[in-house]
Amino acid sequence: ALGGYPDFMRKEMAEQPDAVRRALRGRLDERFATAHLGGLNMDARELRGISKVVFLGCGSAYYAGQLGAQLVEELARIPATAEPASEFRYRNPVVDPDALYVAISQSGETLDTLAAVQELQRKGGRVIGAVNVVGSAIARECGAGVFLHAGPEVSVASTKALTNMTVSFAMLALLLGRVRDLSAASGEHIVNGLRALPDAIDAVLAADEDIADIASQFAKARSMFFIGRVRAWPVAREGAQKLKEISYIHAEAYQGSELKHGPLALIDPEMPSIVLVPGDELLAKNITTIEQIKARGGPVIAVTNTDLPDGLADAVIRVPAVCAELDPIILTIPLQLLAYHTAMALGRDVDKPRNLAKSVTVE
Ligand code: BG6
Repeated sequence: ALGGYPDFMRKEMAEQPDAVRRALRGRLDERFATAHLGGLNMDARELRGISKVVFLGCGSAYYAGQLGAQLVEELARIPATAEPASEFRYRNPVVDPDALYVAISQSGETLDTLAAVQELQRKGGRVIGAVNVVGSAIARECGAGVFLHAGPEVSVASTKALTNMTVSFAMLALLLGRVRDLSAASGEHIVNGLRALPDAIDAVLAADEDIADIASQFAKARSMFFIGRVRAWPVAREGAQKLKEISYIHAEAYQGSELKHGPLALIDPEMPSIVLVPGDELLAKNITTIEQIKARGGPVIAVTNTDLPDGLADAVIRVPAVCAELDPIILTIPLQLLAYHTAMALGRDVDKPRNLAKSVTVE
C-alpha cells in the first residue's frame, strides 16, 4: 500500500500534484474563464442570490475553510467566514436562509461537522458538502456539494485532502465571482493559476532535502511561532497545527501585525519563528516583521515566493509563485514537509501521532 514510501504521510504529500489534477479535471472552463461544479445543483440565479458563505470544519478542514473564505471574499466580494464546526453546533447560531454553508470533511464522518450540518438543516440553512469520501455520512446528509477527489488518505495529518479542499474553494470562489463582477480577464488569471498548481507543488516537493536540513537544525526547539498575515494567516495556523500534531513541539500561529501586541515578549534565541512572506502587497510589512524578530535575537525561517534581502533570515525556503490569490495553497506545502522532517528528526510515528485519530466520530 505504501508503494515504496516509508510512511503514508510521505506518500500522500507526494501524491498532491496528481490529486490536484484530479480535482481540476473537467471543472475548468477556459472559454468563459470560470469553473463548473455540477454537484452544487445550483443555477446562476441561485448562485447570485447567495448573501454570504460560511465554511465549517474541524482541525485542518477548518483552516482550509479560512483559506476558502478569503478566496470567496477576494474573488466574489461576498462576505465569507470560517468557523470550527465543533463550536458552531453548540452556540445556537443565527442561520441565514440566503447564506451558503459549506461543511468540510476529508472523511465525511466527523461527528462535530455532521452535527453542524444537521443543526443547519433543522434551521432551514442551505448546506453543501466539501467531502473526500464518496458515500460518507456528511456527503449523504448534504446531498449536494463538491467532492475533493484526493484519493484515500490514511495519515492522521491531512495533506492532499487539505490541498484539494483549498483548490475546490478556489474553484467555488471563481464560479461565484464570475456570476457576479469578476471580469473575464481576472477569471482567466485564476484559471491559469489553478492549472499551474500541480507543477508548482512538484517544485516544492523537490526542495525536500533542503527543508529536511532546516528541520533538523530547529528540531530541538521547545516552541515555535508561525507568522502570516491576511492570505497567509490560515497557512500559518495550519503550519502550527501540523507541527504540533506530528512532532509534539508546541507551536502557535500569529498574525505579523499582532506580534507587537503581545507575543514579541516571547522572542529570544530559543524561540524560532517561521514567517510566511508572499511576494504580495504586504511584502514590506513582512520584511519589517522579520527585522523585529531578529532585533530581539529570534531565529527566523522565511518561507517565500520572492527575493528577500540577503541575510534577512537565518534560513529561507523558496517556493514558486503562481498568482497572489492562490499562493497560500503553495505556501502550505513546505510547512507539511517542515513538520514531517521535524517529526522524523525526533523519531516520531508520523502516521499515527499519539492521542489522535484520523476521524473523530464520537463526542
Ligand atoms: C481530526 C484529525 O481529529 O479531524 C485532523 O486529527 C482532521 O487531522 C480533522 O483535520 C477533521 O477530519 P475530517 O475527516 O472531518 O476532515
